Amino acid sequence: MKPLWWQNGVVYQIYPRSFKDTTGNGIGDLAGVIEKMDYLSELGIDALWFSPINPSPMKDFGYDVADYCDVDPMFGDLATFDRLMAEAHQRGLKVLIDWVPNHSSDEHPWFIEARSSRDNPKRDWYIWRDPKPDGTPPNNWGSFFGGPAWTFDEKTGQYYMHQFVPEQPELNWRNPELKKAMLDGLRFWLDRGIDGFRMDVIGLIIKDEDLRDNPPNPDAPANLPANDLFSRLHQVYNMDQDDVHPVMREIRQVLDEYNERVSIGELWGPMDRWVKYYGENGEELHLPFNFRLMHQPWSASAMRASVEEMEGALPPFAWPNYVLGNHDQIRFTTRFGGQAQARVAAMMLLTLRGTPTVYYGEELGMENGIIPPEKIQDPQGINLGAERTRDVCRTPMQWDATEHAGFSPVEPWLPISADYQTRNVAAMLDDPTSILTLYRRLFALRKATPALNVGSYTTVSTPAADCFVYERTDSPDRYLIALNFSPAPQTLSLSGHGTCLLSTHLDRTGEVDLQALSLRPHEGVIVKR
Ligand code: GLC
Repeated sequence: MKPLWWQNGVVYQIYPRSFKDTTGNGIGDLAGVIEKMDYLSELGIDALWFSPINPSPMKDFGYDVADYCDVDPMFGDLATFDRLMAEAHQRGLKVLIDWVPNHSSDEHPWFIEARSSRDNPKRDWYIWRDPKPDGTPPNNWGSFFGGPAWTFDEKTGQYYMHQFVPEQPELNWRNPELKKAMLDGLRFWLDRGIDGFRMDVIGLIIKDEDLRDNPPNPDAPANLPANDLFSRLHQVYNMDQDDVHPVMREIRQVLDEYNERVSIGELWGPMDRWVKYYGENGEELHLPFNFRLMHQPWSASAMRASVEEMEGALPPFAWPNYVLGNHDQIRFTTRFGGQAQARVAAMMLLTLRGTPTVYYGEELGMENGIIPPEKIQDPQGINLGAERTRDVCRTPMQWDATEHAGFSPVEPWLPISADYQTRNVAAMLDDPTSILTLYRRLFALRKATPALNVGSYTTVSTPAADCFVYERTDSPDRYLIALNFSPAPQTLSLSGHGTCLLSTHLDRTGEVDLQALSLRPHEGVIVKR
C-alpha cells in the first residue's frame, strides 16, 4: 500500500514566537515564516506544525485560546495564514496547527458568559463545583503549573477547574453543545485546507465523572516546591479515563470527513494505556506522540530497548513515531551531553521506522538558552522555580551572525543564545561538515530511500560496546545503521560488506568491511548492504 504523507514524511515544529519577527516587536510572526519558506522547503522536511497561533492573552503563550477560529494579531491574520498555507502547499509542504481542546482562555467569550451567572446557558461548558463545606476546593487535584487545580469565583460562589494556570479554565467535554462547538472549530480549519492537527494534552479532556481525589504519590521527591501539589499525587482521576476513547473516535470522524488529514496527540503514560489511543482498529489518533526516547539516558541499550518496546507494542495498523524535543523540554543537545551526541541522535531519529518530528533549531544543534531569572517568561518557571522554566528551549531561531541573530531588529522576547555568531543558518548552510548539513543529508536520504522511511526495522546484535545497530529493509534493499553512543572507538565485528552512504562526521563514504568497520567516538553511519 502506498504510504501516506504523514507516514513517510518528516514533521517540523515551529514555535511561532521564536521563528522570525517581521514587525519589529521582538516576537516572531506568520509573515516571518513565509519569508523563510524557501529555507524550510529546501531543508527537506514534509510538514510544518505550528504551536498555537489563535488569539490569546498569552498567559501560557498561546495555549490559552480566546478564539479557536482566528489568528492572534501578534502573529498576523487569517489572510496571512491562508497565504502561508498557499506558499507551503505550493512547495509540497503540509501544514498542521495546534488544537487546544482541554481548556480555553478565561478571556474566551464562552468563559466570560459561563462565569456571568450560575444559570447562564454556557455555565456547563466549563467545570464548576461547589466548595467543600469548609470552603476549600472540591477535590485535591493540583495544577501542572503549581497550586490547586481550582479557582474560586467570588461572584457565583463556585470553583472552576484548571489543570494549568487559572487563566486556562477546563472545558467540559461531557456537555454535547461544547463538544459540537469544539468539533466545528476543527471543521473551520479543515475547510480552509489545513492538513492536520497536533492535539494538546488530549488525554486530559475527559476526567473522572465524580472528580474523585487523586491518591498520594509515595515516590514524590522530598524537595518539591511547597506549591507543587500536582507531583505529590498520582494522576489517576484527572486524565486518561476509559471514557475518553469514544470522544477520540468522534474527533477522528471529523477528520475523516476530509481527505488524508492527520491527527497527532500529545499523550503520556504507560505503554498499555498509551497504545489504546490508536483505537482498537485505528479509529482514534493517527499518531499518539511517542516521547519515550526523550526520557532515555544517553545509552545504546536504553535507546534500543525503547525502540524494541515500541516495535513490539504496536498493532499492525498502527504507525510509529519518534520525538526528541519540543517546546516543553530541554534541548536534547544539552540533555544528551553535547554536539557530538546530537549528531548521533539526529541520525537515529531520522532512520527509525516511524514519523520523526523535528523541533525548530535542532537542525542547528541549538542548546538550552541561558535565561536570567528576571527574564523568565514561562508560568511553569515563574511558579515552580527557575530550573523548571521551558524558556530554555524557546529562544529565538538563529538565522545569522548580525545583532539579534537575524531574528528581529530589536531585542527579542527571550534572549538569543550566546553561540549565535557561529551557530546560525547563514554560517552553517554551506559548511560541508555542519550539523545543518548533516540534517539536510539525512532528510534527503530518508526521502529518497523507501527502506529508510517505510521499510521494516530489525535490531542487529553486535559485540561492540554501547553501540545501537539496526537494519531497515524494503526488499531487496537493506540499510544498516550503526550508532556509537560511547566516547571510545568501537569495532562492529559484523559480517559482510557494504557501502557507507553517510557518517555523522560527514567525512567518509564508500566501501566498508563490516567486520573491521570501526566507529569513532560518537559516530553514526548508514551503510547500504
Ligand atoms: C501542553 C503544551 C504545553 C502547555 C500545556 C497546556 O503540554 O505542550 O506547552 O503549557 O499543554 O496547554
